[in-house]
Amino acid sequence: MYNTWEKRLLQRKESASLRKLSINASETDFLSNDYLGMARNKVFHKMMLETIQSDPKILAGSTGSRLISGHSAEVHETESILAQKHRTESALLFTSGYAANLTLFSCLPQRQDTIIVDEYIHRSVHDGCVMSKAIKWKFRHNNLEDLEAKLKRARGLCFVAVESLYSMEGDFAPLTEIAKLTDKYGASLIVDEAHAFGVFGYGLVHQLGLQNSVFATLITYGKAMGSHGAALLCSKLIKTYLINFGSPFIYSTALPDLIWRQIRMGYEFLDNHPALASNLRHNIRLFRTQQVPTISGTDSPIQSLIVPDNKQLLNLRNSLSEKGLQTYAVFSPTVKLGTERLRICLHTFNQKNDILLLTQSIKSSLDL
Ligand SMILES: Cc1ncc(COP(=O)(O)O)c(C=O)c1O
Repeated sequence: MYNTWEKRLLQRKESASLRKLSINASETDFLSNDYLGMARNKVFHKMMLETIQSDPKILAGSTGSRLISGHSAEVHETESILAQKHRTESALLFTSGYAANLTLFSCLPQRQDTIIVDEYIHRSVHDGCVMSKAIKWKFRHNNLEDLEAKLKRARGLCFVAVESLYSMEGDFAPLTEIAKLTDKYGASLIVDEAHAFGVFGYGLVHQLGLQNSVFATLITYGKAMGSHGAALLCSKLIKTYLINFGSPFIYSTALPDLIWRQIRMGYEFLDNHPALASNLRHNIRLFRTQQVPTISGTDSPIQSLIVPDNKQLLNLRNSLSEKGLQTYAVFSPTVKLGTERLRICLHTFNQKNDILLLTQSIKSSLDL
């Protein structure tokens, strides 16, 4: 048995794709999902500290699942505010985006139903589908013809899952067109906004006014908000169903009130500091003028550069790291074999000199 695990680890080592935990280095951050710098924002931290001092009971542990002792006025109020802000019927908060996707996909689609996912959908959706008895099909990334062909063949209730901004590609789903298709075939569209929320206001579903065509939207708070947790925006009926049948929601301890309060205050902070997103847009534009051949969207804070040779990819990442620039090398199976890539995340706080050093170093290292 040990032999199997050792063999698999050895294979990873030999293909230069062995994963390791490493302590967060103090290099220039082109790696984290802290797009707006909220996780390190001293003004926001000070506000949080003042809140804790004036209301220290929010530090208490939640003491249980939300169905037992872990529900509170704080989380209840936060959910009402979220539903109002996003203009949806209701919101349900979760410990993480992973738990939210697991809950949604494991318990809503039934044996006779069909789930159609973009081939690059996040792993949490796939894992949720594994827990469901419904059939799952993949459609080619952002390909409307392939999606429509699959919608025509679907049986039972049909669920379509996409990300508004893809985490590994850094490109956008054609949301309006997808929503038209799901409307046409009576399918339920589920949009994961983990990477779009905060960077694009309250997310692209909200910005495009697609709430009525979207069955459920996932917002996560560990990325642009720099906090933790996630919300599913959905109808009251679906919220009640998830509370009753969603095992990852039911059988797990809730987050403490501190996090729910931080989420509420985070919304206020983002509303009052639009410069965080506009400075990020400025940095994205600067990066794009340097013409690094990424596969990503022009306006995206995630810029991915395909480097299919694992050793070359590691060398590139390491050479950037030697210059104090922290980026992320993404290997198979996280991405398809042959599409390994350097994932670069741009932030509000990145400095012009660092962005130029990054782009010039990539170009000279790859002879571009
Ligand atoms: C697209 C997408 N959905 C869901 C998640 C899970 O969110 P969380 O980190 O809050 O568990 C992630 C996290 O990386 C993600 O990228």
